[in-house]
Amino acid sequence: MDSVDSRDLLGLEGMAAVEIQGILDRARSLKTSCRGDELTGRVVANIFFENSTRTRCSFEVAAVGLGAHPLNLSAIGSSAAKGESLVDTANNIEAMGVDALVVRTAASGGAALVARSSRIPVINAGDGRHEHPTQALLDLFVLQERLGALEGRRIAIVGDILNSRVARSNLHGLRALGANVVLVGPPTLVDDSFESILPSDAPGAVEVTHDFDGVLEGVDAVMMLRIQRERASGGAISSDYRRLYGLTAQRARRLRPEQLILHPGPVNRGVEMDGSVLDDLDRNVVLEQVAAGVLVRKAVLMRAIPA
Ligand code: CP
Repeated sequence: MDSVDSRDLLGLEGMAAVEIQGILDRARSLKTSCRGDELTGRVVANIFFENSTRTRCSFEVAAVGLGAHPLNLSAIGSSAAKGESLVDTANNIEAMGVDALVVRTAASGGAALVARSSRIPVINAGDGRHEHPTQALLDLFVLQERLGALEGRRIAIVGDILNSRVARSNLHGLRALGANVVLVGPPTLVDDSFESILPSDAPGAVEVTHDFDGVLEGVDAVMMLRIQRERASGGAISSDYRRLYGLTAQRARRLRPEQLILHPGPVNRGVEMDGSVLDDLDRNVVLEQVAAGVLVRKAVLMRAIPA
C-alpha cells in the first residue's frame, strides 16, 4: 500500500484556505453543538514516540468527548523500546482494527511514512522539525477568535524558527489565510532563506528580522517559540538570548492590551518568556490555546473518521 488518504492530516503546506477554514469552523461549532456520540464505537490510536503533554492528552480528551475510545502507546513500555520501527508499530496497531492513527515522532516526515503504508487516516501530531498541523490550527483558531479575519494581520513568530515544526505549520496556515508573518530570531535560528520558503503567489507576506524590539509595536500578535534543547538548539543560543529575544516582563509592558501573546508550550520560563508573563492569564492566551486544542482535535478526528 502506498497512498496518502485525503482524510490524512500530515501538514498545512499546500492545504487550501477553504479546507483550513472548514476545520476551524467545525471546531467553532463544536463549542456549542457537540453531542458526545459522534464517533461512538470508534478507536483512535495515539502513537507518541516523542514526549508530549498537551497534544497527547488533548487528542485523548477529544476522542473521549466524541464517544470514541483512545488507545495510547508511547515508546517507553511498547516494543519500540526493543527496536520495532514506527511504521511496523503503526501497521500492527492498524491490524487490530483501529479507525485512525495519531502519530508523534522525532523523525521529520515520519507521519507521512506511516501514511504511505496505512489504509486508515493518519494525523500528524508533530514530526521532528517538519510540521505540527493541529498546533497551528489551534493557534489560528485562537487568533481568529480574538482578532476576527486574519487577512492583512501581522503576526510575529519569535525564537527557534529553525527547529520549530510549530513555526512551519503556522507559516503555511497564516499565509493561506492571508496574514503577514514576521519571523524573528537570532541569525543562528532564522536566516533570510525563510523568506522564500513559500511560493511567491501565496497570499500574505513573510519577512525575517533579527530585531525583536523593532517589530514589537507593529504586530497584532507575538507567538513565542520554545528553545528546542532536544534538537540541539541550546548550542545555537547565546547567553543574551533572553535579553534580545525573550518576552521579558519589560517587553510585555510595551505591548498594547489588544496585542496577543501566544506560546504553544511547554515554556522554558525565563528563557523565551518570563514566568511573570506566563502567569498573567489576563495578558496571554496560552491556556486558551490549550482549550482550543481539544475543539480543533475533535474537528480533525471527525474529518478523519466520517460518521
Ligand atoms: N505544544 C505541544 O505540542 O505541546 P506538547 O509537546 O506537550 O504536546
